Amino acid sequence: MYSVVKYKGIIDLQDDATMKRYRMVEQLSKGFTVANSTALEMDKLLTEQLDMEIGSPDEDNGNDQRNEDEENVHKALTPTQSASRKKPKLVPSLAISANLEKEFRELFVALKDQKPQVIRYELPQVVTLGLEKPEVDAFQQIVDDLVLGSNVLLIGGAGTGKTYLAEVLVAHQALGRQHITINCSQWTSPTEIIGGQSMDGYVEGKLIEAWRQGYVLVLDELPKIDPNTAGLFNDALAKSRISNAVIFNARKESFTKHSNFACIATGNVYPNKDSMAYGANNKQDLSLLDRFSGSVYFIEKNPKIERRIVQNDMLWSICDKLRGAVEELKYEAQLSLRFMQNAKDAYFLEMQRYKNNGRDGVKSDEGKTFKSAIDSYLSTFTDVQRVNLKQKIDYTGLFSLYQYRSLPINKMM
Ligand SMILES: Nc1ncnc2c1ncn2[C@@H]1O[C@H](COP(=O)(O)OP(=O)(O)OP(=O)(O)O)[C@@H](O)[C@H]1O
Ligand SMILES: [Mg+2]
Repeated sequence: MYSVVKYKGIIDLQDDATMKRYRMVEQLSKGFTVANSTALEMDKLLTEQLDMEIGSPDEDNGNDQRNEDEENVHKALTPTQSASRKKPKLVPSLAISANLEKEFRELFVALKDQKPQVIRYELPQVVTLGLEKPEVDAFQQIVDDLVLGSNVLLIGGAGTGKTYLAEVLVAHQALGRQHITINCSQWTSPTEIIGGQSMDGYVEGKLIEAWRQGYVLVLDELPKIDPNTAGLFNDALAKSRISNAVIFNARKESFTKHSNFACIATGNVYPNKDSMAYGANNKQDLSLLDRFSGSVYFIEKNPKIERRIVQNDMLWSICDKLRGAVEELKYEAQLSLRFMQNAKDAYFLEMQRYKNNGRDGVKSDEGKTFKSAIDSYLSTFTDVQRVNLKQKIDYTGLFSLYQYRSLPINKMM
């Protein structure tokens, strides 16, 4: 299937650019075993280049396939020239187009840090990346959607990891693409989206940049945007799956879509109604919501991720118990991954000081502690609510004398 394999034995003698291209084809085709249209295209060009530069290794082995003209050329060569003809020449290729080269360089950068192979695509234009699949239920579906050109909307409570999922896990790790984020609010301006004049002259909008450069556009907290401003996304997001689609910036200049453009939005609630729990959310037009139709994912709290981040079962289970109590008592509050991270960092600092026994000049109870993080969280409730919550988590038993310090950290309570 891949003809460049015939140069396998001498590829290491080629110039850097050629070797790099060979490795790209090798990686894209999983060691030349999988048909991949981009790899096949590259394979064809690379083989043509090598055939031209050094001739097929078979020919050089002196079999009798050569035609007469070639024989004559050989005869005309001096011994040194003849020897050097058999040796691969170290000349850079002219056969690869600048565009294809660029595309492959991007693919190669994305592929360089390959870890265990879990995600595989054989669709056109799609990068195959190795990564350990995150413990998010719909992860594969989300990546598939973006690859297919669908816009994705992630909905979930505060601090469930939506932004991290969009920017880091999906855009960066799974797709190997850069992202550009618009933090949406009622103050988000058209300039930030489609460009406009600023104090320093014209600035290009983030939608335009993502569109032409092939970035993943992250619309963080999309439901918070003014619905009129949100209308500026409608045209582009209707064309996410159309190759070479064109949009216009504020100066009416046209921009053709880069094939890597993708869009993920996040939000706390599905924005089809005014929200009570998240006051700043706006009801959005149905036409905008339709741009994400079929690709809306609800991101729930995820104990597996939480426990991995907290690295400490005891801390996690106290936080989880507290969160359970808040939910059970139906108080309007969240206990997020962000809080857990904060509490964990406080705990590690506290325990370090506790073990040092004041030798570093700070007593363990003076600084930030796990207890102070929990107290701070509880201080945001009313007196009655606080009493109820403390009861539910056995606050006195765990916290009043810092008893949690003596609990084993790897045991669930
Ligand atoms: N899979 C993960 N691995 C490591 N850290 C994570 C992971 N998911 C989230 N985090 C961390 O948890 C915290 C909360 O995540 P994030 O900001 O993505 O939540 P969010 O759902 O976007 O919150 P909000 O609704 O408030 O915007 C961040 O500090 C983030 O770095
Ligand atoms: Mg967020």
